[in-house]
Amino acid sequence: MTRVHLKNTTIPELDTIQRRPVEQAILMVEPTHYDVLYEINPHMAGMIGTVDKELAKQQWTHLTEVYRQIGLDLKIMPGVEGLPDMVFCANQTFPFLDSTGRRRVILSKMASPYRVDEVPYFAEWYEKQGYDVIEQTDPAVDFEGMGDAIWHPNKQLLYIGYGFRTQAPALQRAADCIGCDVVGLELVNPHFYHLDTCLCVLNEQTAIFVREAFTEEGITILMRTFQNLIEVPLHEAKEGFVTNGFCPDGQHFVVQQGNKVTKHRLESDGFTVVEVDTSEFMKSGGSVFCMKMYLP
Ligand code: ARG
Repeated sequence: MTRVHLKNTTIPELDTIQRRPVEQAILMVEPTHYDVLYEINPHMAGMIGTVDKELAKQQWTHLTEVYRQIGLDLKIMPGVEGLPDMVFCANQTFPFLDSTGRRRVILSKMASPYRVDEVPYFAEWYEKQGYDVIEQTDPAVDFEGMGDAIWHPNKQLLYIGYGFRTQAPALQRAADCIGCDVVGLELVNPHFYHLDTCLCVLNEQTAIFVREAFTEEGITILMRTFQNLIEVPLHEAKEGFVTNGFCPDGQHFVVQQGNKVTKHRLESDGFTVVEVDTSEFMKSGGSVFCMKMYLP
């Protein structure tokens, strides 16, 4: 039986939850057609037409170099003209291994009409890679992939944020389709419209989070499932996107530069903080975590 948990009290003991193989690779989308052409989150307000395209390209390329240095297997997909947000490739899909080890992928149902046309390009890419592509259309329920659905590291336990983009009925559907326990976290602050803007998991024990983005119940859940749950200053999350960093190996934490408080805290906990600049992408409401997809 797979279950959806909205309360701390029903979540199984972590050591009884099945282990999950470590992800093998990451996917990134070239920023050739990246831009801010519309406003669908508070970070984009006033940003239309302000993107420095050359700088964006440099920042993206630097990020790929950082990942290669860490030793990640990087897959690259071309961007598509007229789809400026495609570069945020955490959102259009959710790939996973089923119980037989088969690679499958759920296609997102994007909340904004501006982003709907991105999804078929990903469907095609995954098909070529040999994934089973799953379209969940009946009924249509908004679900924005790994932007809102984040694994507990190494565990068959999935956190799904809902309220702004992903809608609540997507939780049971994901649990049934993937065959895992799902923890639902209601998001309550529009600046933190995706779960990956306010919760970042670093290893099995450690996560950083933004208090203002969650309900009291949500915070109680996170306190229960992460022994080392670190609250970050609001400004480092809202302006510095610190909770949109990415820790691919439990050691390196790749994150927007300048978030001093969280950086020092994580360094004192033994993490290697790798600072990058994603200023041009933050204008669209995204940073390190959402510019890649974790591939099983
Ligand atoms: N402009 C994009 C949007 O609003 C940014 C998406 C960032 N992705 C993320 N997972 N946080 O949809």
